[in-house]
Order: sequence, then structure tokens, then C-alpha cells
Amino acid sequence: MEIRPISYQEYPKEPVMIDNLSTKFMKQSRFVPLSLIRDTLRLAMADPEDSHTIDALKFAYSLNIEAYQGKAEDILEAIERLYGAGSQSIETIIEEADKDIYEIAVDGDEDVDHLRDLASEAPIIRLVNRLILNAVEMKASDIHFEPFENEFKVRYRIDGVLNDIESPPARLQAAVISRVKIMSKLDIAERRLPQDGRIKLKIADKEIDFRVSTIPTLFGESLVMRILDRDTLILDLQKLGFPRDVFARYIELITQPYGMVLVTGPTGSGKTSTLYTTLAKINAPENKIITLEDPVEYQLRGVNQIQVSPKIGLTFAGGLRAIVRQDPDIILVGEIRDRETAEIAIQSALTGHLLFSTLHTNDSAGAITRLLDMGVENFLLSSTLLGILAQRLVRVICPHCKTQVAPDEKLLRSMNLSPGEAANIRFFSGEGCETCRSTGFRGRTAIFEYLPVDDDIRREIIEQASTEKIKKTAIRKGFATLRQDGWRKVREGVTTISEVLRVTLEI
Ligand SMILES: Nc1ncnc2c1ncn2[C@@H]1O[C@H](COP(=O)(O)OP(=O)(O)OP(=O)(O)O)[C@@H](O)[C@H]1O
Ligand SMILES: [Mg+2]
Ligand SMILES: [Zn+2]
Repeated sequence: MEIRPISYQEYPKEPVMIDNLSTKFMKQSRFVPLSLIRDTLRLAMADPEDSHTIDALKFAYSLNIEAYQGKAEDILEAIERLYGAGSQSIETIIEEADKDIYEIAVDGDEDVDHLRDLASEAPIIRLVNRLILNAVEMKASDIHFEPFENEFKVRYRIDGVLNDIESPPARLQAAVISRVKIMSKLDIAERRLPQDGRIKLKIADKEIDFRVSTIPTLFGESLVMRILDRDTLILDLQKLGFPRDVFARYIELITQPYGMVLVTGPTGSGKTSTLYTTLAKINAPENKIITLEDPVEYQLRGVNQIQVSPKIGLTFAGGLRAIVRQDPDIILVGEIRDRETAEIAIQSALTGHLLFSTLHTNDSAGAITRLLDMGVENFLLSSTLLGILAQRLVRVICPHCKTQVAPDEKLLRSMNLSPGEAANIRFFSGEGCETCRSTGFRGRTAIFEYLPVDDDIRREIIEQASTEKIKKTAIRKGFATLRQDGWRKVREGVTTISEVLRVTLEI
């Protein structure tokens, strides 16, 4: 019988899943499944006449077997690609790594060459790959590798909340950390100073960027990987979570010819995402957009993005001065941290540019007092500031296990509802299921408060009013606070009362 040889292109893209078929058996007998269609299993085999293997499969699975000639190295590569690290559980890999590696001192001064060797051991590479792959699959935003006294912890941040995952044995700590450092082109000999790096990895056919940072702690180096998965970028203003009226006003705001627009909120509240989405919305051939960022997180098409680098003397302030000479229409300054940056930002907003930036203040009114405290001139601020958005992210109730609930009295009281009002609202929460890992939540959405700078607010700025006073003035005119926007999301059945309380402060 003629046996047709097959080329590597004909190997499958996805593993053919067959219960209990071990990769060890595939490797030993040098075959890999190509497809399983009805009762016929097609195989690529290094030796298609190996009747022992063919019969074994035939009997074990009651399938017809069709064998094709494959090159041994193609087969091994396909096994690795299809059934390698990617398909093993973390547990198995940890077990394996544990068996394979005996002598790893956790602490102190093992020399760099030894560390480099350890970090290049296959089980360590597999373990690290698996940890990264799982994090991406679970849509985590960060992976934390944390050394403690008797424990090496690995945690994923998912929907803003840290989750413990299977931890590797503490002895593997130095090897695992070194492996990630090697991948990120960091100096593995340096373990006493913080380092920053970046890697691009191809995972499941897409390229994902990772930002890596290390810092020495009491029990060794702690390492955090930020996952910058473009797929998580929403880039559609309408999908960020704006209430309808704020959305309309925000669109008006960002189409102004010049002035300053600020987005505020704590770390991880979605500021950068909102601004990237805003730029994507107003990006047009007739606008020149320049950004100044630390760091540049995602590349935006048609936007000139500049990475701030204080190490070489390129600061926000210095960069901003140079940008203005490049004749932009729209400028994004990653963050206003100091007076100098604030002043140049205001100056460029005064001179015909639309400038976006962020501040780490709790609410929208707080941004005004923060800028005044930095020493910005009140009259300059009052004449350039157009509006301020404050935001938080709340977790969205898991659609698979969402059920109607009656929240307890105390929670209801926090919403300031009369019993009559409460009776008219249907409250929901997630019971917890497999798809949400029993958290009851899946994904997040933003809540916003929007402070437009009108004549009254401008007067408050000139008078250098307190945050509270500015807020009161705004509330008198119908301003909805972050928490009130949160309650709207509760009434819509999007999130829970506790979730809104978790991310917002009392008004
Ligand atoms: N509107 C949104 N809905 C759902 N998820 C969001 C939204 N905005 C941002 N995210 C997610 O939240 C995470 C943090 O967002 P982002 O980096 O924009 O926050 P940030 O406020 O800029 O943080 P930092 O202060 O660290 O710069 C990202 O993983 C992002 O994908
Ligand atoms: Mg940001
Ligand atoms: Zn669920």
C-alpha cells in the first residue's frame, strides 16, 4: 500500500482531543493525531507501518486508524505545539518541575550562571509559559510573583481583584523569577534594584505585550507582569459605560477646538482606556494627535505616541514643550504630576490645542483643588478647563448565574431609598458558577461623574473654592456623583450595591 507523506502545513492547528491519550505515548511511538472524523482517526506517523501502535489505538478507542507518513521532527514539534505546555494543567507542570529539579537554593547568592541554567530548564520554561497562558485565558490584567517567608505566591488580578492560584514550590522561586527576567531582557544578575522591561509574546495566534517590573523585597525579588492585551481595549465610547446624558455632553466636550479635559480616578480605574477610546473617536485625517505617555501602553493607529523617559531627561514637561512646536491639534499628556507639567499643559490649552490628561484624584471637583495646590494660576485654569470626568470600574454581575435578590436593610439604606422606591426595583446578584469562578461577577464597566466647567464653576476656580464647595455648587445644578451613577447601574441590574460601595467614597 502506498502511504502518502504529509507536509508540516497539513498538521492541525488545534489539538485533536482524545481521552487519556498521553503525550508520552505519542512521543515514544512518534505519531500525532491529525483529525478525528466520525470513527476514523487520521495519524501522522514516523513509521506508518508500526502495527503495534496502530493496533493499540484501534483497540483502545474502537476507531479506524489511517496512518500517513510524517517526518519525525515534524511530529515531535507538532506534539510540543499542540499538546505541550499549553495543554497541561499548572498542577501537573508544577509536579513535573518538582521531580525534575532537585537542587535549588531559594535564598541569597547562587551565582548567575547557575541561575541562568536553572531558568533554562524545560520544566521551568513550561511552568512559566503555562502561568502566563492561563492568565491570558482568564483575562487577568496582571500576574504577581511574590516571595514570602515560607511561600512563593502567584496571583492573578482579574476584574480588578487579586486571586490566588496554584503556587509553585518556594524552592523554584529564583528560577521562575529569573526565567521571566530573561524573557523580558532584564539583568538577572541584578537582584537588589528595581527593574522594568517589556516583552511581546505570541499567544494563541495573537501578539500580546507584557510590561514587567521587579522590586527587591525582604524574601527575594517580587515581579509583576502587566498584560496589555489589545483585545481588552474597548475603543468604542458607547461601550465604556457612560450614562446617556453624560455621553452626549462628553461628545460635545471632546469636539471643542481647544481647552483642557481631565479624567480622574485612582490607579486602574480606566482613565487611560477612556482617553485612548476618546482619541480613537476624534482621530481624523484633519487632526494631528500627539501623546506623551509613561509608558505607551497600546499603539493607536495614526497617532504620534511619545514615550516619556526621565532616565534620558525626557520628562512630561520637557516633552510637552517640544510637542507644541510640532503643530498638533490634540495632545494627550499621560498624567499631570507636577506644577511644571500643569503649567505647560494649561499654556498649550490656551494657545489653541485640545489637551487631555489625567490626575489621580478621588472625584472630579478634587482635580481643580489639586491643580490650584500645585501652584497653577487660578485665572489661567478657569479659562482653559472645559470639563472633568471622574471614573471607577465596577464588576458586572455574571449573566450565567444572575438571580434576583432582596438586599439587606443596611445595604438598601446606603442607597437612600424609601421602602416604596425599593419595592419598585429589581435587585440582582450572581450566585456564583463555573464561568465566573464562583465570584458572581464577569467583566467590568465604568461609572462616571461629569463636572462641566461653566460660569459658576469658573467663578469657584477664581475664588479658589474648596472641593466641597465646588461639588455643592455642581450638585445644586443637577450634577450626579460617582455613587449616584453607581446606583443607576444597580437599578439597571448591571451590578450590586456592595460593588458600588466598594469603589466609591461617601459623597
Ligand atoms: N470602561 C471599561 N469597562 C471595562 N473594563 C475597563 C474599562 N476601562 C478600563 N478597563 C480595564 O481596566 C483595566 C485598567 O484600565 P486603565 O489602564 O485604563 O486604568 P488607568 O486608570 O489608566 O490606570 P493607571 O492609573 O494605572 O494608569 C484595564 O485592564 C482595562 O482593560
Ligand atoms: Mg493609565
Ligand atoms: Zn457566574
